[in-house]
Amino acid sequence: MLHTKRKNHDARNAAVVEDVFAPTDLTAQMPKYKLPEFEHDPRQVYQLIVDELMLDGNARQNLASFCGTWEEPEVHHLLDVSLGKNMIDKDEYPQTAEIEARCVHILADLWHSPRAADTIGTSTTGSSEAAMLSGLALKWRWRRHRQTAGQSIERPNLVSGPVQVCWHKFARYFDVELREIPMKPGQYVAHPEDVLARCDDNTIGVVTTLGTTFTGHNEPVAAICAALDQYQTQTGRDIPVHVDAASGGFVAPFLDPDLVWDFTLPRVQSINASGHKYGLAPLGVGWVIWREKTSLPEDLVFRVNYLGGEMSTFGLSFSRPGGQVIAQYYKLLRLGREGYRKVMAGLRETAAYLADEIGGLGPFEILHDGREGLPVVAWALRPDVASGFNLFDLSNQLRTTGWQVPAYTLLPDISDLAVQRIVVRHGFDRDMAALFLNDLRRSVAYFDAHPVTASLQPEEAQSFNHS
Ligand SMILES: Cc1ncc(COP(=O)(O)O)c(C=O)c1O
Repeated sequence: MLHTKRKNHDARNAAVVEDVFAPTDLTAQMPKYKLPEFEHDPRQVYQLIVDELMLDGNARQNLASFCGTWEEPEVHHLLDVSLGKNMIDKDEYPQTAEIEARCVHILADLWHSPRAADTIGTSTTGSSEAAMLSGLALKWRWRRHRQTAGQSIERPNLVSGPVQVCWHKFARYFDVELREIPMKPGQYVAHPEDVLARCDDNTIGVVTTLGTTFTGHNEPVAAICAALDQYQTQTGRDIPVHVDAASGGFVAPFLDPDLVWDFTLPRVQSINASGHKYGLAPLGVGWVIWREKTSLPEDLVFRVNYLGGEMSTFGLSFSRPGGQVIAQYYKLLRLGREGYRKVMAGLRETAAYLADEIGGLGPFEILHDGREGLPVVAWALRPDVASGFNLFDLSNQLRTTGWQVPAYTLLPDISDLAVQRIVVRHGFDRDMAALFLNDLRRSVAYFDAHPVTASLQPEEAQSFNHS
């Protein structure tokens, strides 16, 4: 009798799903830096990892990042469906490859390529890889011209305004001198005369940014191109322009359709953008498009046949998930011009609202209010107002309510100027902006009551730095 009871109990227990925290696996610490000897229950390991991830900042309250932190349920489903699709295996996944090609042509058309149906471009892991590829194309083009003319190919240089760190990486990794125009008080982007002053026979190209990382301003692409046209007439040097439109490539076409910055300008040879920023795709996709096929030197493209068929590949990696590209295609189809316009207009309105409110608080001077350029608000402390804190203190204080609003110093020649910046992104609506403003007001009031006696220094601040 007892025996039967025991057997029944065991059988029932085998079918029972235990409470995830009950077994011993989660009552002892898991090894963290060594492969465990034995298997573990998937539910428990899943729980353990999800719990650990709680210690990360809350992505939606991260006002520092340009990258999307909210996606529609359909995007989650599409990523799931695409989990096994490798972007590089174009023979096995021809429809994924076709979808990538469609995105390339849609973007080429959006950016006014003269031959949108026939141009060349590729998806990448983000704008950084796109920057490397476009920089390489510039370097190859310059080298070919120099070699054909029997001239030296030593010491190539790239001229730019204040650029994101990916261009510093490109310069260092591929042995190119970066001639970055310094910032000046009140001037956060390149001016045409500063560009010309740095160009010479060894300039492989000029990089201009549509929506800078530091403040969100657009660089004057058309004016820089016009200055380079004149320069060519005077010197014979034909210097191509690349537009780093990491963020602006998905903002300007919808909010500022009259702004001339893209392939409408014959000097613009290539454009990059991050699908995962204002392209509204999930993290892990960028784009680079060349003006026309001949803008991309043939010998940069590799052809492989071991995946079946002959496939061309131009990229810094090989295997790469296809889901992000598929999700980008979904966003392009689902929103269309009208949808993107509505989303971006909402973001710009929220940015302007935040800028007005923050500017009205008293201690802050607004450097960029998001009414032009990117929907980004950047501010500094007013030098004429005595405040009991610096922006690093404020950034720290805002973290107590979960907000991540980095403070960072700008570039030479104003590297002593600290600024703070909010990137208004898809999913940061007016209500959240109002909640954030309440916490910002409370933080300023806190410092009024408790002025800081030893302010945080930039190097002590919670890290966020582009340089
Ligand atoms: C202007 C600019 N270029 C390039 C990048 C790098 O983009 P990604 O993070 O997509 O590699 C960024 C990122 O913020 C950027 O703002």
